[in-house]
Amino acid sequence: MKVNLTSDVVNQLSLLGAVVIVGLTIFVAGKYIKQMKTDTSTGELAEENWDGIGEYKNPLPLGWAASFMGTIIWALWYWFLGYPLNAFSQIGQYNEEVAEYNKAYEAKWQNPDKETLMGMGEGVFLVQCAPCHGIAGDGIDGKAQGFDKRMTEEQVLHVIANGQKGLGYPMGEMPAGMASGDDAKAIAKWIAGGMKGEKPAAFAACASCHGEDGTGMNGQAPNLKEYDEALVKHVLDNGKVGSIGTMPSFKGMLTDVQKKAVATYIQSLKEN
Ligand code: HEC
Ligand code: HEC
Repeated sequence: MKVNLTSDVVNQLSLLGAVVIVGLTIFVAGKYIKQMKTDTSTGELAEENWDGIGEYKNPLPLGWAASFMGTIIWALWYWFLGYPLNAFSQIGQYNEEVAEYNKAYEAKWQNPDKETLMGMGEGVFLVQCAPCHGIAGDGIDGKAQGFDKRMTEEQVLHVIANGQKGLGYPMGEMPAGMASGDDAKAIAKWIAGGMKGEKPAAFAACASCHGEDGTGMNGQAPNLKEYDEALVKHVLDNGKVGSIGTMPSFKGMLTDVQKKAVATYIQSLKEN
């Protein structure tokens, strides 16, 4: 279709506007060019001088100064009170929606039975944990914790020698050097073996915190026997740096029911 600029009122008005703008521009530019040729301004000159070109000491025009200050005040308001902090935020909306959804999720699964927990736990595990821990939970050649066994002898020995911190148990940190030499080896062997058979006498040094049976005195210190819910929750909330490597924190990424579910699932992976 051929465009006809004069076909309707809007086009005619726009055309008229364009002509006026061009006309005004030519007029104003011409006026100033002429003024530059003939200008004979007087007044006090500033001290600086660039190759003979000087500058008059003109006072700031009031309107200009006022709008300059106004812009600064507005900018401060804008950054600290206005748009960025107080306006609609997509991230905020996302967070609100996730929180709302999680609440509904928690309410829906208030008292899940074991079968539900296993299914849910497996789902979480395969998506979030399997990339490091392996689809079968076997730790992919020792690159992360294998869940078929609670701990290896080396892991226990490493903790005895170096202590450990960061899991956030009520008991706090585990001090280094609670046992050494053959005592440490005997303890490590016994713990790695699932705490079966005769308990080494030296375990007394550990029992004050981990309990006589090694299960952590109701969540005060880590359960050395099983991946109980408390342990999984502490590891998920704080991450863990250990002899194998670093496990990232999952804080805020899983709901309480999901943590319980994944703990239930991990427990089921342990060899009998
Ligand atoms: C003073 C209390 C205390 C004593 C005594 C103690 N532990 Fe601990 N142990 C802890 C605490 C607390 C942790 C968790 C530290 C953390 O935040 O990572 C821990 C962690 C561990 C862990 C790592 C568990 C895991 O899954 O991360 C092992 C293994 C362990 N202790 C073994 C032992 C052994 C073996 C002894 C005895 C030689 C012993 N502990 C003595 C308090 C103690
Ligand atoms: C980026 C890799 C990575 C991911 C993802 C990961 N982990 Fe880990 N996890 C590790 C490593 C590495 C360790 C061993 C840390 C150590 O050296 O003790 C570990 C250890 C653990 C332990 C044993 C802690 C202890 O003290 O014995 C548990 C339980 C655990 N992870 C649970 C999970 C769960 C549940 C998920 C999924 C929600 C998960 N992990 C996802 C790397 C990972």
